[in-house]
Amino acid sequence: MKNNSSIKRIGVLTSGGDAPGMNAAIRAVVRGSVFHGVEVDGIFQGYAGLISGDFKRLNERSVARILGRGGTILKSSRCVDFMSTEGRKKAFEQIVKNQVDALIAIGGNGSLTGAHLLYEEFGIPVMGIPGSIDNDLFGTDHCIGFDTATNNVVDAVDKIRDTANSHNRLFFVEVMGRRSGFIALKSGIATGAIAIILPEDEMSVEELVETLQRSESSGKTSSIVIVAEGSKSGGAYARAQAVTKKYTQYETRVSILGHLQRGGAPSCYDRVIASRMGLGAVEGLLEGKKDCMVGIINDKEVYTPLEVSIAKSNFPNRDELRIARVLSI
Ligand code: F6P
Repeated sequence: MKNNSSIKRIGVLTSGGDAPGMNAAIRAVVRGSVFHGVEVDGIFQGYAGLISGDFKRLNERSVARILGRGGTILKSSRCVDFMSTEGRKKAFEQIVKNQVDALIAIGGNGSLTGAHLLYEEFGIPVMGIPGSIDNDLFGTDHCIGFDTATNNVVDAVDKIRDTANSHNRLFFVEVMGRRSGFIALKSGIATGAIAIILPEDEMSVEELVETLQRSESSGKTSSIVIVAEGSKSGGAYARAQAVTKKYTQYETRVSILGHLQRGGAPSCYDRVIASRMGLGAVEGLLEGKKDCMVGIINDKEVYTPLEVSIAKSNFPNRDELRIARVLSI
């Protein structure tokens, strides 16, 4: 297809924590670009590769059979050098050297902050794609990877419940989410957790003990508490310790799910949103949009200024928290 834009070559990278569905987004960026007559360079290792010049030309065949693969074929990093203007200047020099006219960054809050600074300081058109299991970026209903990660948690907690039940135990299960409780809330509802501890809404130890006592008195013999790793009073270990000081009815165990949450094949939902956002990022740039994040809100592609996406964050639905409390009695 004829490309009338001044953008003839796009660079694409993945940055920060990987998220299932990132490959589907890369595939969509590459194929969408080729479809519109634009060349694509894959940049390896996130911003570290942008600084060191780890660029490789990709074509529509380079991204075959990656749609259903977890992780990211471009690899990722949390690049400390890119946090300084000096580091970003080196990155910009590589962009110029490789004749890249625009950059697409797939990642979470920190990664899109980097993209925004690159635009502010050097004027290179950038477009962000929200890829983060934490689901906290503003300007989209869901970030790529969140659905898969939540399903991974549900699978794991269902298994933990079998053993919790057999031993009449209370389990504190810690899930990812440094500043955000989306994974904890959704998986907590889906697994019937007795309590869900979020960074955005802490349940006090007293309230938790009361909840446990009430359920036990109605015959409940085992329970699961989901704790987001970023909860202010500490993770699952801290919570378990605080509760067992006041309540010893159950034998207690702690399970930290860790990085298994981020792995595995992306769900259908993540593949679809990643495909839509990947193409949306390319088409947005070709229409002249820049310094934006492409998201999907109410089933429509939307472009939010990066400045806004990174400054605000999505907040878990308070009503879902209420639903979880009512249904866990
Ligand atoms: O940003 C996604 C995330 O998985 C967070 O939920 C978690 O706190 C963090 O990344 C872990 O980062 P790392 O893989 O660098 O240990």
